[in-house]
Amino acid sequence: MRYALLAALGAVLAAGFVSAQPLDGTEQPEVNAEVMASRAAAQQFGKTLKEALQQAIKSGGPANGIVVCHDQAGQIAARLSEEREMLVGRTSLKVRNPSHTPDAWESAVLKQFEARKAQGEPVNQLEFFAVIDDDQGQKTFRYMKAIPTVGLCLNCHGENIAPEVDAELKKLYPYDKARGFKEGDLRGAFTIAKPLP
Ligand code: HEC
Repeated sequence: MRYALLAALGAVLAAGFVSAQPLDGTEQPEVNAEVMASRAAAQQFGKTLKEALQQAIKSGGPANGIVVCHDQAGQIAARLSEEREMLVGRTSLKVRNPSHTPDAWESAVLKQFEARKAQGEPVNQLEFFAVIDDDQGQKTFRYMKAIPTVGLCLNCHGENIAPEVDAELKKLYPYDKARGFKEGDLRGAFTIAKPLP
């Protein structure tokens, strides 16, 4: 997805800005419905991935978990996108898989999340949405929800990665930037887009 910089700037001005509490749906019921649907999709994506990952690590160690992330994360995202009729994915300012590189709008939101975190907002409550025109002029609802780094993630995204995991990651991801994270860091975000009528 590529969006013109102007659209991204406009989005920042026109954007909704919420913390975890539900919105009052009386003013913008269509947008409110998209926010609710996006929260549910992001939550399901996170839960499904984490369960698959925990299971794989339990049965075969962290190196086995790489298979889940490498082979299944994209499939889970694709299945959810189809089921929920919205484009569901993950992004980060430091990506492992280059296909998760943020576009201009996503990059601005990730930086905004870092700034809000620095001001003391809990990472697990950071979210942001906006209705923007994409570069084809298509009105699009966009939503992002921060992903915190927890202990489990350090096996593959931390500062000290076990040699066999490290070797496998280097083989699969020669351009890996998603290392050196600490518990509590912003690892990235779920990102959702849905064209509006
Ligand atoms: C077993 C190793 C492993 C563990 C543990 C792991 N990841 Fe990852 N992670 C990966 C791999 C491999 C990818 C690249 C997936 C792909 O190619 O689509 C990835 C990609 C990601 C991405 C997508 C952005 C990017 O960098 O490409 C996010 C976000 C992410 N991981 C967050 C987490 C979080 C949060 C945790 C802890 C709950 C976690 N990961 C635990 C291996 C791991």
